[in-house]
Amino acid sequence: MCGIIGYIGKRQIIPVLLEGLRRLEYRGYDSAGIVFLEKNKIKVIKTKGRIFNLEEKIFKKPPLEAKAPGLGHTRWATHGEPSDENAHPHMDCKEELSLVHNGIIENYYELKQKLLKKGHRFCSATDTEVIVHLVEDYLNEGLNIKEAFFRTLKDLKGSFAIALIYKKHPEFILVARNQSPVVLGVGEEENFVASDIPALLPFTKKVVFLNDGEVAILYKDKIEVYDSKKNKIEKEPVLISWDLASAEKGGYAHFMLKEICEQPEAIKHTLLGRINLDNKEIDFSKEGLVKEFLEDVQKVFIVACGTSYHAGLVAKYLIERHLEIPVEVDLASEFRYRNPLINSKTLFIGVSQSGETADTLASLRLAKEKGAKILSICNVLGSTIARESGVVLYTQAGPEISVASTKAFTTQVLVFILLAFYLKKMLYGKDEDKEKVDALIKISNQLDNFIEKIRPKIKEISEKWHNISNCLYLGRNILFPIALEGALKLKEIAYIHAEGYAAGEMKHGPIALIEENVPSIILAAKETGIVYEKTLSNAEEVKSRRGPIISIISENSEEFKKISYDYIEVPLTFYEFLPIFYVVPLQLLAYEIAALRGCDIDKPRNLAKSVTVE
Ligand code: G6P
Repeated sequence: MCGIIGYIGKRQIIPVLLEGLRRLEYRGYDSAGIVFLEKNKIKVIKTKGRIFNLEEKIFKKPPLEAKAPGLGHTRWATHGEPSDENAHPHMDCKEELSLVHNGIIENYYELKQKLLKKGHRFCSATDTEVIVHLVEDYLNEGLNIKEAFFRTLKDLKGSFAIALIYKKHPEFILVARNQSPVVLGVGEEENFVASDIPALLPFTKKVVFLNDGEVAILYKDKIEVYDSKKNKIEKEPVLISWDLASAEKGGYAHFMLKEICEQPEAIKHTLLGRINLDNKEIDFSKEGLVKEFLEDVQKVFIVACGTSYHAGLVAKYLIERHLEIPVEVDLASEFRYRNPLINSKTLFIGVSQSGETADTLASLRLAKEKGAKILSICNVLGSTIARESGVVLYTQAGPEISVASTKAFTTQVLVFILLAFYLKKMLYGKDEDKEKVDALIKISNQLDNFIEKIRPKIKEISEKWHNISNCLYLGRNILFPIALEGALKLKEIAYIHAEGYAAGEMKHGPIALIEENVPSIILAAKETGIVYEKTLSNAEEVKSRRGPIISIISENSEEFKKISYDYIEVPLTFYEFLPIFYVVPLQLLAYEIAALRGCDIDKPRNLAKSVTVE
């Protein structure tokens, strides 16, 4: 969702802002804008649409003298439709202040009414605009800009990451954070603010994370940070290991394809340092996952959104297979508004690529309040969810830019596999998975070969089926969540109505949808034992109603081949690794179909990468 970039220093301001915005595009947006100083005046340029629309507008009438400080913003509409007026940055009545915001101001209406009565003039339908008028109002009352900023923050209810510039004090940018991500970039005689690390990578790898309630003042040669009570605090910068290349397409047509193909590498990185290659033992103790943390756990809640939720569903099968602990998996938006039975013997596992998803974060806070132990599986170092967890296990997938999540999912599943084996050994002393751990070490190469092998076939299948309007994805047991994930991918990027279903539930409804032009993508693995046979029966039921079948099946599944229109064979593996192998063809299928339909694959309509509002 909304992206923020801000800069203070000697560089040319417009290229820095545009570069930052381009690197935030993946978060999802429908308008964009920048602000900078021109001849000591605030100059805002903004437009509905994409960054190239903004560039066109800028270069139609190039600013004569654009100077830092400056801010840039990509907006994902919440209050007010996507339009030039509603795009950020927003200004006060006197055009001396300008501000960008990510989040939602919940009490904006009452604030706006008060400000209108005082004579403030509004130019947009956004909640954001009230913030800049509030600051102006406090300046009118005689406060200085820093006091006015702090005072304004006190009045706001809701979530926000804010950056503000004031023409009378061009020597700093004011930044505040409450429940919306923001990260500061530390340079030499220059400093940055952004919503997310990729926007900073072209400039610096040294970052400072802000916590909720904190305020930062960015000068070109220093950063001051204050807590909500205005006490100055010290923050140590953190060095990010991601490199610039990992946030670029590197010759691929889309980030999504690059990220699908990067999965073997991401798996390798996620395993690194966690398996002792000599004795094949898994070790999470360096990351804080020690016996004392988990000893009396009686129940596990796994809570997440979107694709991460599907990784959580996979984990239920893994944990219940290996550990004698009941597991509940919840969508974060549901969990937070019910009354989950949590106590100090509950382990809450939050799963989030970004570590910033609003519902997952709120669920984590709820569980924490009720005394649960908090573990998170995150991809982004220093993200809010990671920072608020007792223990965090990082997926080392590198930056995931495509809105549709791929390598984050496989690495989340991988961390859960490791976790199941690790806890089994730690809690029950059972050390029976060495063969599997050994196989895990080799899985990366196997997956690489698999991707290369299936790509031409997936293209062929996509050519035949890309014009469909409806599609079913069916699987059972550990492949049921993969069916859900496959359907989600197709919906997200190809805009085709797709339903993921437990194949055994077909008879209770979806079988009524079967027609000659509604393909069923059926997942079946011999490693699931009896469930494989059951899935075969479900496939027969589809076939006998003339439903075309595309099957993703174990090698040499002759029975399936006979009834399938098309099929992809998956090499035999261990049960636990099935999700990793079976999800890849579905990711590629969605990708190829979306490409043939001419969809905007990396930035699908209406979607955002990082959902920081509920
Ligand atoms: C958005 C993204 C999905 C992602 C979900 C959860 O909907 O488009 O790709 O799975 O959020 O995000 P998280 O960062 O918490 O994994």
